[in-house]
Amino acid sequence: MKILKTIEELQDIRKNINSNVGFIPTMGALHDGHISLIKKARLENEIVIVSIFVNPTQFLPGEDLNTYPRKDEADKKICELCKVDYLFMPEISTMYSEEEILIKAPNKSYILEGLARPGHFDGVLQVVLKLFGIVQPTNAYFGKKDAQQLSLITQMVKNLFLPINIIPCEIVRENDGLAMSSRNVYLSNEQRADALLLSKSLYLAASLVAKNERDTSILTNKISEIMKNLDVEYIAIVDREFNEIKTIELNNTIILIVVRFGQTRLLDNIWI
Ligand code: PAF
Repeated sequence: MKILKTIEELQDIRKNINSNVGFIPTMGALHDGHISLIKKARLENEIVIVSIFVNPTQFLPGEDLNTYPRKDEADKKICELCKVDYLFMPEISTMYSEEEILIKAPNKSYILEGLARPGHFDGVLQVVLKLFGIVQPTNAYFGKKDAQQLSLITQMVKNLFLPINIIPCEIVRENDGLAMSSRNVYLSNEQRADALLLSKSLYLAASLVAKNERDTSILTNKISEIMKNLDVEYIAIVDREFNEIKTIELNNTIILIVVRFGQTRLLDNIWI
């Protein structure tokens, strides 16, 4: 595995690659969720490129940019073990100049996650577009856990006619159901135990749908009931375009939950 720091190095290598390139953009602190994306990319592409870049433009003032978990050495080992070909780890000054072309995410980026973090998705799309420009992947891999991010990136690729396949990947969970996230390390033991209610309530909702419940307000109430002692930020049932729906549409519904544990926001969702 080669570690690259500059855009020139990566572009030099890229121009000599004529086979499929699988790309996994990350902010590091790699966990089994990322590893599953890398493994999928490894199976489906001749060349696999991972980037690690904690992107400042997607953090709002007061968020955890400065304390975001950084584990460069462990991450390098993981990438090596997963047989990544190139690991791109640029500095902020490599990725951004003083004056930037800004990306404006569409209106649906200002609901749910975007309501809690206005402007967050502008920063995500800006950095992903830059990374796509540098890496020019054939296939790019994103987890379904960040469902709204995945939907916006898919839309960006379509709207800007980028010749890249966006590959959605399943959520990876701990044995007890907690969705993997780099921010899980912020949880105390007690918060971690309470956090299990997120996946529990989503599984319950999915089992009710399997028993023919289609009314989203009934499902939302059931989820709220399970989480009544937690600081729930939102429970939303949307279609895959992120429009709120009153009736479950099979194969076109996502149930999303966000709960606050102190400063930490935990996201989880299930695709119905
Ligand atoms: O999902 C993430 O880790 C980040 O939002 C991404 C896509 C790497 C952009 O910084």
